[in-house]
Parts: sequence; structure tokens; C-alpha cells
Amino acid sequence: MGKKVTVVGAGFYGSTTAQRLAEYDVFDTVVITDIVEGKPAGLALDLNQSRAVEGFETKVVGVTTGPNGEGYEAIEGSDVVVITAGLPRKPGMSRMDLLETNAKIVRQVSENVAKYAPNAVVIVVSNPLDEMTALAQLATQFPHQRVLGQAGMLDTARFTNFVAEALGVPVKSVKTLTLGSHGDTMVPVPSKSTVGGKPLREVMPAEQIEDLVVRTRNGGAEVVALLKTGSAYYAPSAAAARMARAVAEDSGEVMPVCAWVDGEYGISGVYLGVEAEIGATGVKRVVETDLDADERASLNAAAEAVRAKQADVANM
Ligand code: NAI
Ligand code: 2OP
Repeated sequence: MGKKVTVVGAGFYGSTTAQRLAEYDVFDTVVITDIVEGKPAGLALDLNQSRAVEGFETKVVGVTTGPNGEGYEAIEGSDVVVITAGLPRKPGMSRMDLLETNAKIVRQVSENVAKYAPNAVVIVVSNPLDEMTALAQLATQFPHQRVLGQAGMLDTARFTNFVAEALGVPVKSVKTLTLGSHGDTMVPVPSKSTVGGKPLREVMPAEQIEDLVVRTRNGGAEVVALLKTGSAYYAPSAAAARMARAVAEDSGEVMPVCAWVDGEYGISGVYLGVEAEIGATGVKRVVETDLDADERASLNAAAEAVRAKQADVANM
């Protein structure tokens, strides 16, 4: 059977994700939904008209959904659902300022996903990411492994880009890793970062690494401050689309994602940014890596920070 993916939310993040997914040409159908009348249908029409130029056969379907779940039949049979619905930040706002508004949206969307696409793997991107991922699992009641969040791939991509630019080397020669939360307790991991196979710490002074770690942690805010309205979407959509593709292709790729941890790193019962093997069932396995003592302490601190907030969303 051909694969079907749904993107909920046809804003900047959702529309660019739908475009990337369609252009991969590995899905039969990409469904894009929004509550705005006409917008998803317009985007779908436009994307379908790009097929002849870009040379892909994936069919894009755009559907406006209503407050009582009207239109959600269109997502039936989805293998993957990417939830991008929700408000983005404005300059000066933290991701946490979006909590209550986006919790209502993500809960309503998740309940409809559970009803109409009960076998889907859910990839959450709405912010605040770690909390919205926990909420989507609660609202769908899907197994934890079938609900994950996108943040680590984006944060890692930002760290990699900063390192490559600073050293003037190709992006593909740089490997970095970012764990922890998609917020103040993000944990970029220099000990696991390499340039041309050499440890980052051998090719860059410690102070410069620390500057790039801080810049990575503020990577989203830096874009928001420049855009003035809305937040980043090109790098974010690249990350979410790759995750959805890994699910559809059951690739087993190891990616930094927001996943449920159950004993890894000595941490349990919380959604946290870790590396995980991604496939048809969602998170197949959380992959633990060696961290130095500081990084491990930071990961523990991130887990405790998001644990408290994730408990709050249960009542939202
Ligand atoms: P946007 O404002 O361009 O689009 C959001 C869309 O969601 C709007 O079209 C809106 O009508 C729609 N929406 C609202 N309620 C809905 C509902 N109940 N059902 C379906 N659609 C609904 O915002 P953008 O840039 O697309 O960002 C979306 C979310 O992604 C934001 O919460 C943003 O903070 C988050 N984000 C997360 C990142 C991550 O790494 N996890 C990175 C970048 C953004
Ligand atoms: C980002 O990191 C705002 O979470 C969003 O770009």
C-alpha cells in the first residue's frame, strides 16, 4: 500500500513540510489541514501544479477542518501525522509563553488524530515542544513510542552550521549533537562533535565552542528577532520531513528527537531530547551515547526541568 502522511497546520512550518514531503516522491498522498477556510486547498492546488516541473507524483490534498472535527476523515489511513498547528513566537517571547494557547490546539488536534488515524506515528513540532509532545501522547493515548517530537535534529543542524561557518569547512565534514530540551536546558554535546573526523575540541578553542553552544541554544530566538513576525521554518521543516520519511521507509535511522525515556541515562518517565532509532513504529530504540560529566549533569537538569512542565500539561 502506498504511504500517506498528514501535516496538521498549513502555516509556514506546515506548508514547507508538506512541500518537502511531496518532493521526496515517496508518499502516495500528502494531506495538509488547517482551520483557515481555503488555505490548505489553495496550497495543495499550488503544490500539485509544481509536480510537472519538479517531477514528482505524490498527490497533495488540502482540507479545512472544523471545531468539531469536521474534515478529519481526510486523514484516515495516515502512516504519519506531523502536528504543526499552533502559534509561533513573536520577538521577546519564550517558547513557554505559547504553552496555554497551543495546549488547547494540540489537545483538540490530537484527539481527532486518535479518532481518525489510530495507527499513525505522531511527530509533534508545535511549541513549547517537549510539553506539546507529552500532551499529544496523553490526548491520543497512543503508546509512548508512537508519539515523538522534532527539535533535536533542528538544534543539531544549527550547531553544525555554526561550526562549519566558523571554521570555513563543508557542512558535511561536521558532525555535532544536541540533546536535552528545545529550550533553555538544551544540551549541545561538544564531546560528540567532530570536524573531518577529528574531535571538535582539537580544532576549535574552548571559548569559541562555548560561544557556538550559546548561539545554538538561542538559535530559534535569533531567527525570530530578524523575521519580526513568525519563527524559523526552512531548517525546522527539513528536520520534521526527514523524521516522517524515516517512519514511512522504516529506515531505522538514528536521529536526535524528543522521545520518551525509560531508564536511558538513568532517566525515566519523561519526554526528552535523545538520539533514537526511527522506523515504522516510531521510536524503535533510544540510543544512549557516552557523555562527559558536565553534559550528563546538564541532561539530568533538562529532564527535571521538562518533567515539571510536562506534568502541568496533563490538566490543559
Ligand atoms: P504559523 O502561524 O505560520 O502557522 C500555524 C498554523 O496553525 C496557522 O495556519 C493556524 O491557522 C494553524 N492552526 C491553528 N489552530 C489549528 C487547529 N486547531 N488545527 C489546525 N491548524 C491550526 O506558525 P508556524 O511558523 O507554522 O509554526 C507552527 C508551530 O511550530 C509554532 O508553535 C512554532 O512555535 C512551532 N515551531 C517549532 C519548532 C521546533 O523545532 N519544534 C521550530 C519552529 C516552529
Ligand atoms: C525554533 O527553534 C521557534 O522553536 C522554534 O526556531
